[in-house]
This record gives sequence, C-alpha cells and structure tokens, in this order.
Amino acid sequence: MFDKPFSQACENNKQPILDVLNRVLASSKKLLEIGSGTGQHAAFFAPRLTHLQWHTSDMPHNHGGIKAWIEDVSVNNLFQPMSFTIGINDWPLGHIDAVYTANTTHIMQPSEAQLMMKLVADNLPAGGIFCQYGPYNFQGQYTSESNAAFDEHLNEQGCGGIRDIDELIHWAKPLTLIERVSMPANNFMLIWQKTN
Ligand SMILES: C[S@@+](CC[C@H](N)C(=O)[O-])C[C@H]1O[C@@H](n2cnc3c(N)ncnc32)[C@H](O)[C@@H]1O
Repeated sequence: MFDKPFSQACENNKQPILDVLNRVLASSKKLLEIGSGTGQHAAFFAPRLTHLQWHTSDMPHNHGGIKAWIEDVSVNNLFQPMSFTIGINDWPLGHIDAVYTANTTHIMQPSEAQLMMKLVADNLPAGGIFCQYGPYNFQGQYTSESNAAFDEHLNEQGCGGIRDIDELIHWAKPLTLIERVSMPANNFMLIWQKTN
C-alpha cells in the first residue's frame, strides 16, 4: 500500500477551483489533466463532476501517489495516470474536449510551457475548453510581492518561473482566453477555448 502524498495548497484551493470547473466544464465529457501531482485534485473533482471522464497524467515518479488517491475514492469516472512529460512524450489521449492543469506552467521551462499551449491547442476540438490554474504575471508585472518572491525561489530551483498572460495568449493561438478568474492567494484560473 502506497502512502498517499499530501499537499496543503491543494487542500486549500480545491473548493474554489471546483466552483469554477463546475461552471465552465458543465458541457464537457472527457478531460485530460496535465501534471496531476499528488492526485488530490483529481480525487476531489471527479466524484463531484460525474458527467466528466477525468484522465490523470504526470511524470512516472508521481504515479504511485496518484494511484493511491484514485484507489481511495473508487469512482468509475476517474482514470489511472498516463505517462505524459511535455517535451518528452506525445499527447497521450484522443477525443478529449477539455484539459485541466494546475500549478504546472511556472514549474516547466518556458519552451515546455510554450509546447504545452501548442499541444493543447492542437488536440482540443473546436469549442473545447482548457482550464489553467496558477500564478501569472499581467502586462509584465507581478500581481503581488509574494509572487515576486516565489518567482525568485522558482528561478533558484531551476524552474521556468511565472509566465506572463500576454505571452501565453501569443503561444496559445488558436485558443482564445475567454475568462481570467481571480482566485485566492494571488492565483488565476485562465479559461481558454478553441475557436476554430
Ligand atoms: C507544483 S506541481 C503541481 C501538481 C498539482 N497539479 C497541484 O496543483 O498540486 C507541478 C507538477 O507539474 C509536473 N510537471 C513538471 N514539468 C512537467 C512537464 N514537462 N510535463 C508534464 N508535467 C510536468 C510535475 O511532475 C508536478 O506534478
């Protein structure tokens, strides 16, 4: 039996995120999560979004924890993690109409974040939705002092760092940013839609 990994941040943000997903994914049927991490988000969201097939993915070293969370909730719309490392693996799942990712964009190198936007745009059908949660800069500015300090920490750790929303808009075409929802702790939920 694998001990379930735990993230306090996930515990804090899961309900505010669910409130957004409930609204924007109301018509979606099959979703790929990129960078499922501990698996906590998937295990909280899938039983509450029962109209949706929730497919988890991440780098292989996170699969044990994700599987443990999936086993714990035991619902039939939540699926085992697929190996998906942007920059290494091909897109892992067909016929999706939604993508969700949280707190991955600033961990990835800029080239990987750019590739993620392109892969999502390429693989969503017209009308498909991409929900991208995390800290973002706005018009070249940090949205808080804590985000500036966090970015410095990310850079020291060798992560790509906080990306600017304008940069993502440029990379995401033909996805259109249809909503930018302010979330607790200086985060945003970016809602993208494939427009053609
Ligand atoms: C800070 S964790 C966030 C995990 C979870 N989504 C959450 O909100 O707690 C960042 C996640 O991004 C994943 N990740 C980093 N680089 C990646 C890449 N190139 N492709 C796919 N996933 C990546 C990591 O394995 C990790 O699970």
